[in-house]
Amino acid sequence: MVTAHKPDGEALRGFSVVAFESRMALPMQRLIEKYGGTALVAPSMQEVPLQNNLPAFDFYRDLKNGCVDLLILMTGVATRTLIQTLETKFPRDEIITTLATKTKIVVRGPKPTKVCNMAKIPIAVTAPEPNTWREILEILQDRQMLAQKKVAILEYGVSNMDFMAELKAHGAEVRPVKVYSWSLPDDVGPLNRAIDSLVAGKVDMALFTTQVQVDHLLMVAGKRNLEAKLRRALTRIAIGSIGPTTSENLRQQQFFPDFEATPNKLDQLVAQAATAGPKIIKAKQKRAVESWVLFENPVPLKKQTSAESIIMRALQFKKNGRVPIWLMRQAGRYMAEYQLIRQKVGFLEFCKNPDLCTGATITAVERLGVDAAIIFSDILLILEPMGLKLSYNDGIGPVIANPVRGPDAIAALKPVHPEDDLSFVLKAITQTRESMDSRIPLIGFCGAPFTVASYMIEGRSSRQFIPTKGLMHADPKTWHKLMAMLVDVHAKYLKAQVAAGAQILQIFDSWVGCLAAADFAEYILPHVKKLFEELGNNVPTIYFGSFTQEMLPFLRQIRATCIGMDWKTPMDQAWKLLGKDKGLQGNLDPALLFSAPEFFLPEAKKILATVGNKPGFIFNLGSGILPETPVDHVMALVDYVHEWKGE
Ligand code: CP3
Repeated sequence: MVTAHKPDGEALRGFSVVAFESRMALPMQRLIEKYGGTALVAPSMQEVPLQNNLPAFDFYRDLKNGCVDLLILMTGVATRTLIQTLETKFPRDEIITTLATKTKIVVRGPKPTKVCNMAKIPIAVTAPEPNTWREILEILQDRQMLAQKKVAILEYGVSNMDFMAELKAHGAEVRPVKVYSWSLPDDVGPLNRAIDSLVAGKVDMALFTTQVQVDHLLMVAGKRNLEAKLRRALTRIAIGSIGPTTSENLRQQQFFPDFEATPNKLDQLVAQAATAGPKIIKAKQKRAVESWVLFENPVPLKKQTSAESIIMRALQFKKNGRVPIWLMRQAGRYMAEYQLIRQKVGFLEFCKNPDLCTGATITAVERLGVDAAIIFSDILLILEPMGLKLSYNDGIGPVIANPVRGPDAIAALKPVHPEDDLSFVLKAITQTRESMDSRIPLIGFCGAPFTVASYMIEGRSSRQFIPTKGLMHADPKTWHKLMAMLVDVHAKYLKAQVAAGAQILQIFDSWVGCLAAADFAEYILPHVKKLFEELGNNVPTIYFGSFTQEMLPFLRQIRATCIGMDWKTPMDQAWKLLGKDKGLQGNLDPALLFSAPEFFLPEAKKILATVGNKPGFIFNLGSGILPETPVDHVMALVDYVHEWKGE
């Protein structure tokens, strides 16, 4: 957040600013124009008096009967509207007398106070500043006015569930009384035009002045199937918010305000926009161009190919102007854009729909500004054509209903023909390659033999791997047969991915760290080596294993271009053990991304300081992004790595 100095009168000249004010549309437009900006004010809501508000009349009857001990007036508009609504059936004097004598009036702030004073309704309790529901709660609690009392809250718009829950927790019987609600304006034309301009990249800044605007904007865009595009557009422009509540709602929707008005007034917001806005707009535009994120409106840069992309160059050990970065599991549940697509379909169905996979792949790149795309898919899809019954269950993850537990089950596995059985993955790869900016390389992937075998045998994610290790030691012949089969299948699958358009291959060995190094060398290494030999030198390859510290001298023998590291091993140590002819990828602990950037960026800096300048290094996490990771933290990491210029 930035504090306001005196902005210059021409600060917004040349910038297009969209705002969603309704009642204050004209003043908003004037304010933007005062600083030279082009204003696009699109009213996004209207206040609707509840027609035939029967609950309000019921409430009034109870009030007259003395059944309301406290009436909390949340806003001035609601207070005025309640009186107006009742006046359609009762004389005003009677209403005022009832309010004055039949209950105790509690007011939240200056506005309802003013309405009461004008109507000569006595106030019993006034909440102190900053006049939120918390102050009301505190004062009522202090005065012991809650236990066993009938409390009515006169609301305006949405109910405040937290407040109601707290009142109940203190023994009150709570009843919300609603006199107003929000709806879309009768004419949504201006709002649609604002969405069109945003999506077309014609807007530089958006100003939000209540949280309802955010919800309505998403709702209208959603109806036209433009929500994903709108979200994308909003990552490239400056966003201003009027105050903490609006900012909070923006963040919940994964829009991240760049500045906030203090105090929360329109003129302050636009002054902030003029002071802080231009710099933010330039930085965001630079980010979008540099990250080659503009897929729909490609910038007229020199036409380059993915061979010149910084990740491809890193995999050829060429020097780069900046450090390349992509993130394992970069498309996933932590991202609103992913959830948006995922709402419609289950995970398996999602994976089998090439259009959805293409969308998820590209959206992640656009949102984050990373230097590579990884095709949206899963390492376990290959199990279905083998004859295993795969499903993904919320909270558990992948489950195989018929795990393979012995030689017979392994012998009964069906051969896989990737071109037919996994055609949806290949189609998604081809499509993604065709529709994505040519400068972003596309990574194809599969699971490593051990990790895939562990799912086949355990039937789900495991901690102990008892049946897997059991088979390995008790029946090595069958074990090696299974490994050899998996190498064969995956080599075919990866080659098909390359033929479809994948330009880099990564093999995920997420669970290999559960093994003793000696067991790894005996039971796994020969097969992983074989897999990479099969792949040859057609495209660069990456082997990622978790918790491989003791295995690094063995990993050196694998013919992979690059090794992905978990977060436990320091990168310089890993590189010493692997040898300089291997590229290195990693290795920030993904759990750190839950703390604020000020805490995890220094850790990223340590990695960069150690290996950031070495050719062959690609920044990544030490394992996949965790669900619930704040997206803005991930974006902050990407920007930080891109801006890092060496020590
Ligand atoms: O951007 C990307 O990397 C997305 C593509 C991708 C997915 N899975 C999508 C996915 C990749 C590269 C994978 C690899 C994968 N899948 C691994 C190896 C990498 C790692 O994280 O260790 C493993 C072990 C799996 C198996 C798997 N698939 C598990 C354990 C789970 C459930 C837990 C989880 O991470 O969500 C899945 C489901 C899965 N795969 C989801 C996604 C987006 C979540 C599905 C959902 O609930 O919407």
